[in-house]
Amino acid sequence: MKSVAVVGASGAVGAVMIRLLEERQFPLSTIKFLASGRSAGKTVQFRGESYPIEPLTPEAFADVDIVLSSTPASVSREFSPIAAQAGAVVVDNSSAFRMDPHVPLVVPEVNPHDVAKHHGIIANPNCSTIQMVVALKPLHDAFRVRRVVVSTYQSVSGAGEKGLYELQTQTAAQVAGEPLPSPSKFAHPIAFNCIPQIDDFLPNGYTKEEMKMVNETRKIMGDETIDVCPTCIRVPVLYSHSESILVETEEPITPAAARDVWSRAPGLIVLDDPDLKLYPLPAAAAHRDEVFVGRIRQDLKRPNGLLFWCVSDNLRKGAATNAIQIAEELLKLNPVGA
Ligand SMILES: NC(=O)c1ccc[n+]([C@@H]2O[C@H](COP(=O)([O-])OP(=O)(O)OC[C@H]3O[C@@H](n4cnc5c(N)ncnc54)[C@H](OP(=O)(O)O)[C@@H]3O)[C@@H](O)[C@H]2O)c1
Repeated sequence: MKSVAVVGASGAVGAVMIRLLEERQFPLSTIKFLASGRSAGKTVQFRGESYPIEPLTPEAFADVDIVLSSTPASVSREFSPIAAQAGAVVVDNSSAFRMDPHVPLVVPEVNPHDVAKHHGIIANPNCSTIQMVVALKPLHDAFRVRRVVVSTYQSVSGAGEKGLYELQTQTAAQVAGEPLPSPSKFAHPIAFNCIPQIDDFLPNGYTKEEMKMVNETRKIMGDETIDVCPTCIRVPVLYSHSESILVETEEPITPAAARDVWSRAPGLIVLDDPDLKLYPLPAAAAHRDEVFVGRIRQDLKRPNGLLFWCVSDNLRKGAATNAIQIAEELLKLNPVGA
């Protein structure tokens, strides 16, 4: 049986990770919950028992087999190599190691075989990238994806517990007619607003979040020639990211042909019936593990172009679910009891 440590247990992703370990009956012998000194005194309920949140220290990884880590990248950069050195395999939700050529970047519906290439750290991709590649992979296999134009509508929980708090407190103040609390997590007020900036700007005019979608998509799909043209936008939604996607393929593509390959795709559900006003909605996708697609249309001018709308819960498939699926792939390589 495996010994598991959940690092960042007090955070938005960590909390979902804990619930998923219960839901999926992840086989483990011992578990510990780690976070910063700020969480000293807090407890976690797991499988009917109460556990203290312990401080993250190098010694905390002794005898741990699997680390599920959801901390800021700077913290992961310091502690994930220590955990790997101590003999654990780290599944890391942060951006710290995603583009490291020695670290696999895995979405189990797309490149599960890359798990076996790890040297102690496996990176979980960015939330917007995960849901997009789950939808793109079946299209890539059937029609070869050449170019993707994507605009995201990303929920505030993508910025963690502080993002959720900022939307809720600003909304309450606005409704009560009180002055809005100043933004701290986001660059501008997010209540009743949209912000076309996620993460910092780079010299090329794109944001870091946008360039994550470009670079991570190519690495996960194993195809450096795929062009991704992203615009990432924060919207006042609590859970689930939405994406408007135009995909251009080498082979001609039609909505019927796309629906056909998607009907057999793992982890993906098509919700698409205009007569019934049926399409994916972030509120309905919240707390679900699947990626939902709908609003499937042919490009008006191009037989190689398809438009669709893609929604998934960023804390589940965009983070915790994907990380636990990676850990489950690890167990297949090195079964329980081995
Ligand atoms: N939110 C998403 O949708 C999402 C999706 C994909 C990837 N990610 C990535 O996952 C990571 C966590 O995101 P989140 O949304 O869960 O953020 P969050 O709600 O802010 O949680 C951050 C966690 O990291 C811990 N932490 C912070 N500084 C620490 C330190 N110095 N030592 C030990 N622990 C420390 C915090 O502990 P304290 O409470 O004790 O400070 C907390 O448990 C980030 O790298 C993020 O980019 C997030």
